[in-house]
Amino acid sequence: MLAAAALSSGLLAATAHASQPDWLSAKVPPIVGGQAAKITEFPWVVYLTDLQGNQFCGGTIAKANKIVTAAHCVSGEEPEGVQVIAGRESKQSNDGTVAKVTRIWVHPGYHNANSGSDIAVLTLDQELQQQPLEVASKADEQLYQPGKNSTVLGWGATAEGGQASENLQKAEVPLVSDQDCQRAYPQYRADAMVCAGLPQGGVDSCQGDSGGPLVVDGKLAGIVSTGNGCARPNAPGIYTRVATYHDDVQAQLGA
Ligand code: ARG
Repeated sequence: MLAAAALSSGLLAATAHASQPDWLSAKVPPIVGGQAAKITEFPWVVYLTDLQGNQFCGGTIAKANKIVTAAHCVSGEEPEGVQVIAGRESKQSNDGTVAKVTRIWVHPGYHNANSGSDIAVLTLDQELQQQPLEVASKADEQLYQPGKNSTVLGWGATAEGGQASENLQKAEVPLVSDQDCQRAYPQYRADAMVCAGLPQGGVDSCQGDSGGPLVVDGKLAGIVSTGNGCARPNAPGIYTRVATYHDDVQAQLGA
């Protein structure tokens, strides 16, 4: 989930800054900028697989039988072709639950990740035992303040172009202002998206993390959507701005 390869020695010599994660100021940085996370600490994070068991995206339990993920993960897919793995930290274990998907709702405004509305809700064939995560609502605008710390989770690549992770990974990234994100991405839409990352890069979500949660103050504030490569300088990750879609999602949670 994090490409530390982008770290330059100049950066390593930099002094600690309050908004940086601890490891950036460490003398010996880890090889991967994220770190292994415990599923018991993040019980609502899940991953999606095809019928062969290949993980291709992440997701979040929003209700016992409902998963919030990215539209680009499941658009055009049949429910029968997607499985949800809950309660499993390592892909190599058999822990947790393999749930079938009975329905896929893709936001009607979705066209591609670059144009927003990158959000979908899956209905499961069963009620999961794991605790759901609260979905940010329109009253949660303060969650999106630039510089605010967020946590992103997933089983995706640990470096740009690299292999997916066997174990759940987490990384902490500050939210980026609309102006800075607009500068990095002409297609940025402040109503539909939010960016997170460090100006110098080094910490980011990556391929395979899509659909997974960006958590701010204990709420689902973002969904891993897109970006330019992974963890590059001045190219933060782009996340679906969940609060914008709260009412649509809420309607699906009741459906
Ligand atoms: N689109 C990617 C996926 O399907 C996620 C890319 C996120 N990129 C980033 N730089 N944060 O897994």
